[in-house]
Amino acid sequence: MKITDFKILKNEWVSPDCFELSLEPWEDLDVRPGQFLELSVPGKTLRRPVSVCGRDGRILRLCVRAAGEGTVILSGLKNGVINAIGPLGNGFSLPGKDPCCTSGAAGCGHGSGMYKEGSAAESRLLIVGGGIGCAPLLLLAEEAVKAGLEVTAVFGFRDREHALFEREMKALALRSIYCFDSEGDDAVSVVRREGLTDLPFRACGPLPMMEGLASAMSSDGEFSVETRMGCGFGACMGCSIRTVSGMKRVCKDGPVFRKGEIVWQSLR
Ligand SMILES: Cc1cc2nc3c(=O)[nH]c(=O)nc-3n(C[C@H](O)[C@H](O)[C@H](O)COP(=O)(O)OP(=O)(O)OC[C@H]3O[C@@H](n4cnc5c(N)ncnc54)[C@H](O)[C@@H]3O)c2cc1C
Ligand code: FES
Repeated sequence: MKITDFKILKNEWVSPDCFELSLEPWEDLDVRPGQFLELSVPGKTLRRPVSVCGRDGRILRLCVRAAGEGTVILSGLKNGVINAIGPLGNGFSLPGKDPCCTSGAAGCGHGSGMYKEGSAAESRLLIVGGGIGCAPLLLLAEEAVKAGLEVTAVFGFRDREHALFEREMKALALRSIYCFDSEGDDAVSVVRREGLTDLPFRACGPLPMMEGLASAMSSDGEFSVETRMGCGFGACMGCSIRTVSGMKRVCKDGPVFRKGEIVWQSLR
């Protein structure tokens, strides 16, 4: 975890309520899909957690929904620098691949790859996102394709106007399915209809979508969950949720949790 200043290279609207930030850190950062930054917001005491959705060399991309005062302020920062703590949180794992080479540990022997081969022979991955929850999944999709997994992504949005990352997903060697509430379709229905319920999965999105997915899937998987955060790095306990193995901090023990760990009622 580092406290770093980032140069704002780009900040532009990509949908009616979401904008994309391109940030250049002063030093290279290792970021795993599902990890986030705690961004400082001018005039606000508390930082705001935002996932990394992409990277281009050392430049990190973030996609932010203007949800309230803090994120609206962020949407207006067109240049200069922004301070952030991160990367924070555990991030997603890839099926059959153990995280590797992401901690900066020297001499791990795996070259520039981010993951080492695991024992499991899993080669397929289902990625399911809803709305701005698709942000961390874009980076995950990129890493999963790079790691040689056969990826199917199902992304759901309110309507076509609010869809995110269509261009980026088309450029990846994966099967992506977009669906829209306005057209009477949602991500969980697509997963059921397409017979994808037995695949290892990774998901992020609105709580009803994630709960629906948890009961639809016969396979194991991981969910990235959201709570309001205080410090963002494990000190205040403000983000704690109940899990089957006791209280866990979303910022430090999560935000990614295994399907069986989450006590969904405690998130409602
Ligand atoms: C680990 C993590 C990763 C996240 N990644 C992203 C991301 O990539 N892009 C993105 O747009 N947003 C992301 N969020 C959500 C984002 O942090 C909140 O939308 C933001 O903090 C709201 O701040 P605000 O001052 O604009 O809104 P506020 O005025 O604080 O709140 C506006 C509305 O959003 C709700 N809200 C605020 N914070 C959260 C939260 N953490 N979870 C759920 N609801 C909240 C409030 O209850 C209120 O209804 C993430 C949150 C977490 C915990
Ligand atoms: S936000 Fe402080 S412990 Fe998680």
